[in-house]
Amino acid sequence: MRMVKPHRSPKGLFDPYYVPERLLHRDRELGTINGVYRDSFEDEYGVNTLVHGISGVGMTVFSRYFLTKLIPEQFNSHTVYVDAKHKDTLEIISELNDKIHLETSKPITVAFDLDILWMQFKRTAASTDKRTVFVIDNIDETNEDVYSKLARLSKEIQASTIGVLNSHDYRLLTKLPATHMSYDFEIPLDTYTQSQLYDIVRMRVEDTFPHQLTEEIVRYITDLVVEFDASKPKTTVEALKALWPLASSGQEIDSDAVRSATMSITSFAHDNDYMDLIETISMNDYMTLLVLEAMSEHLMRYKTETYIDRQTLNELVEVKCEELGVRFARNDIERSLQTLIFQSIVFESGYSRNLLYVLAPPEIIYDAAIGLRRELARRK
Ligand SMILES: Nc1ncnc2c1ncn2[C@@H]1O[C@H](COP(=O)(O)OP(=O)(O)OP(=O)(O)O)[C@@H](O)[C@H]1O
Ligand SMILES: [Mg+2]
Repeated sequence: MRMVKPHRSPKGLFDPYYVPERLLHRDRELGTINGVYRDSFEDEYGVNTLVHGISGVGMTVFSRYFLTKLIPEQFNSHTVYVDAKHKDTLEIISELNDKIHLETSKPITVAFDLDILWMQFKRTAASTDKRTVFVIDNIDETNEDVYSKLARLSKEIQASTIGVLNSHDYRLLTKLPATHMSYDFEIPLDTYTQSQLYDIVRMRVEDTFPHQLTEEIVRYITDLVVEFDASKPKTTVEALKALWPLASSGQEIDSDAVRSATMSITSFAHDNDYMDLIETISMNDYMTLLVLEAMSEHLMRYKTETYIDRQTLNELVEVKCEELGVRFARNDIERSLQTLIFQSIVFESGYSRNLLYVLAPPEIIYDAAIGLRRELARRK
């Protein structure tokens, strides 16, 4: 049976706790965590897990997908999620206390004292009719104690606690000799390949954008994030967030818009002095300048095309050479391209080596290339 697609809403871009209908390319990890919990439910013991990965890889969505979709489908249990980021111990424990009372529909007595709150929480958590799964998101040095306390309590009351933390805090808190972190299993979350990240971006566009984005635009966003930001889904969502107002006002998304939406990860490239760079690599190299010129001309003319394929580029350079009466061999074009790729002026798509893109606005490259070519011609 096909599910009817809910209507598109930008919630998936602006709500940090949004959980998509499907969590893509995490089948193995979801299978693992599900298996661990199935065993613990059947044999009635508590199990504590740490979920970790580099910041932005999708830790929050992984734990929330498990908590809000998989658990209710399979297990009859209470679920409690607390984001510990920037909260002190009192705030975290009050939130745990509020949520367990809400889950179990028990009245809550107002209290502001840490010990009293913890006692209330403990009493209610221990006397539930169902077992409970807790998630503490964003564990770090400042709240590690709360996680550990909860993990120990979980063991006593046959509940389970999932701690979520980024790789940095994971190393800091679990690899030190003095560690008190208690956990039975860990689920490391890997970064995605270009094609996996593409699927994630494509799905998010379908769920949230008023109109489709072209495949080229989605690939371009993906390529930039894979190449310059360790393929973090979070960065792609940030880019989509920046593009959303344009798209919803009916404007066409072109390569300029994508470059500006990903400025935070590519800004280093915009500080380049392209004139200088191109001058250095193309010293007396007429062909490399022609290749750059043809390429940037094409990208300027077709703003929604974010790539040029090698075949098209070859043809454009041939035409230029004929016009200018320059003799050339096919190899020359490829040799020039290799130099440009090596110098990080031109990039190959992670999707296909055949697709080439640039980071700098093509106008800037064009100006530099044509200026230098004319100068070379004058000197001859
Ligand atoms: N496998 C996936 N399928 C669909 N969407 C995903 C997937 N992985 C991550 N995302 C999306 O990427 C974005 C970032 O994910 P999330 O907030 O979980 O990252 P995080 O690792 O918790 O980051 P932070 O370091 O900020 O805590 C979210 O919009 C999330 O829905
Ligand atoms: Mg998170």
